[in-house]
Order: sequence, then structure tokens, then C-alpha cells
Amino acid sequence: MEKLVLKNGLCVSAVALGAMNFGTATSPEESYRVLDAYLDRGGNFVDTSNNYAHWAGTGDESETVLGSYFRARGGRDKIVLATKVGFDRHGEGAGLRKEQIEYWIDESLRKLGTDYIDLYYAHTDDVNTPAEEYMEAFDRLVQKGKVRALGTSNFDTWRVAEANALASHKGMTPFSVMQQRLTYLHPKFGVAPKYVFNESVNRERLRFLCDKGMPLVSYSCLCKGGYENEERIPAEYETGVRFAALKEMAKEKGVSASPLVVAYLVNLYRLEGYPRVIPLFSAKTEHLLENLEGLSLSLTLDELLALERA
Ligand SMILES: NC(=O)c1ccc[n+]([C@@H]2O[C@H](COP(=O)([O-])OP(=O)(O)OC[C@H]3O[C@@H](n4cnc5c(N)ncnc54)[C@H](OP(=O)(O)O)[C@@H]3O)[C@@H](O)[C@H]2O)c1
Repeated sequence: MEKLVLKNGLCVSAVALGAMNFGTATSPEESYRVLDAYLDRGGNFVDTSNNYAHWAGTGDESETVLGSYFRARGGRDKIVLATKVGFDRHGEGAGLRKEQIEYWIDESLRKLGTDYIDLYYAHTDDVNTPAEEYMEAFDRLVQKGKVRALGTSNFDTWRVAEANALASHKGMTPFSVMQQRLTYLHPKFGVAPKYVFNESVNRERLRFLCDKGMPLVSYSCLCKGGYENEERIPAEYETGVRFAALKEMAKEKGVSASPLVVAYLVNLYRLEGYPRVIPLFSAKTEHLLENLEGLSLSLTLDELLALERA
């Protein structure tokens, strides 16, 4: 699998694996199989959080399953491990105050059975805490070697720009990766997602990321399996002409729609004004293998433009 060297020095595979359901909807045994299959095909970028999946359990499950996998299989140093802080667990614990960051990093390290995190995300913004406080707290983690690089998720673009301007002014570590929702389908104009923070990336955000050379890790990019089972497509997405164009091209290429979405996202950077996009999805083993077919699909510039303009 192709690897990208990011400006922050991390070397990540072109596709990231979501571990959100590990230990809850995905059994530990199946989680091991998915990880084995992903790593076997050259993937190395694994995504979790300190609260996955609290709506289906305690919120410790995903990191705990990953920790047991590293203990059983070894190879922690071959993986670019991303986790997050800042969201609530059962309605408690949300925020980016320095005490919260200091507490949760140690909890994540303990559960994951590692002494460093490659990429530590602020999972969502905390408008009640000054950016200076959380940027300093995150920077201290980098200085101590607990974290290698920082990312944001579910922040407004201007808040990322402000936080990074502050970091630059004070010589602190900036946010160098953004994780946000992006798929092939467009959201319906004026229709909010079910959860406000799940806002899809718009053109302005893409131009910002392109300008800053910051990659986008695109979550929920397979519409929860909706490209294969249309009824699973979240209500805020427009289907219509764009979906038909995708399905038509997938048919011509002899693949299902999900791998074509993967191919579209990894190729987007070839168009002017688009950043590098790293699709992040979760899937059981058979779906994972199907989705990875997208990495060997070749898309001409005309095909990419046809998809983008549909
Ligand atoms: N930063 C954030 O706020 C945030 C929010 C949400 C998610 N995330 C991250 O993003 C990752 C992925 O997000 P997600 O789970 O919301 O969305 P997703 O990857 O778009 O959807 C996952 C669902 O799609 C199904 N699927 C995948 N490939 C398929 C295929 N080829 N055919 C049929 N069904 C297929 C999977 O079913 P099977 O399990 O049956 O394969 C699973 O139910 C998470 O694990 C998490 O790491 C981050």
C-alpha cells in the first residue's frame, strides 16, 4: 500500500483503519482478523479514541482491544497509532482543559499498552477553554515524548487557523492533520447532520487544507455501508444524479461502489485546490478487502473530473 510522508514526519498508509467498534459491535476476535488483514496488505494507520464506543459500552473497549492486540502480536512500532481526547463518555468528561488532557493521555497509554501515541487528536473543540491552555498542554505531551504529532477533529476551520497561529507565535507544536467527515455524496443544502459536530467538509475547508499542506483524514467516508445498502445512507446526503454517476462508473469498472469512493478520495489531490485525503473507514474483513480494491483502481483525470462534476 502506498505510504505518504506527512509534513509532521509521520509516514502513513494511503488508507486508515477505524477501530471505533472494536470490542463492542466488532468482537475482539473479528477485530484481530480485521487488523491482521489490514496490516498484511501494508496498512499502518489505525484510528481510535479514548471514548470508543461509549454508546455501546464503557468507552474503554476499542483502546483496550488494540492494547491486547499489540501485546499478542507485537509490532506496535510499525503502526501509526492515532487516538483522541475531548469528547464525553456517557455525558461526562468532555473538554480540553489541561487537567483533562494530562489525565486522558495517561489513560490512553495505559489501555493501549504503549508509551507513545503517534497522532493525538483534539476530538472536538472546547470553546470554554482558551486555545492557549490546550495548545500548551498538547505541546508539553510532545516535549515529554508521549505524543509525536497533533491533529484536530470537529473544529471549525477558523478555530484551527487561530490555534495554529498561536502555536506558531509561541513556538509550540501545531495541529498538522485534520479529521473530518467527507464522502463522495454531497450533503443536502441547509440540512444539518444528526450530530452537529459531524459537519461535512465543504469546498472552503478543502482549500484551507490544500493551502496549508494539511492532510484530511476523512471519517464516515463509506456512508456507514450506504453505498452498498442505500437505506443506510444518512438522511442529510443527496443521492440522485451523483449517486447514479458513481454506480454507473463502478459498473463499468467491474467493482462495487465503496472501492470506487476510496479511489475517488485518494485521487482527489490531483485536482487543483484539493488536499491529500486519507480515507478512514471501519469494516469487517470481507468489506475491508473489497474497499482496498479501490487502491488498485486507476482513475484517469477525465474520470476523476466526471465523478467530481456529477
Ligand atoms: N472524528 C470523529 O468524530 C469520528 C466520527 C465517526 C467515525 N470516526 C472514525 O472513522 C471510522 C469510520 O467511521 P464510521 O464507522 O462512522 O463510517 P464508515 O467507515 O463510513 O462506515 C462503517 C460501516 O460501513 C460498513 N461497510 C464498510 N465497507 C463496506 C462495504 N464494502 N460493503 C458494505 N458495508 C460496508 C461497515 O459494515 P461492516 O462492519 O459490516 O463491514 C460499517 O458498518 C471510525 O472507526 C472512527 O475511527 C471518527
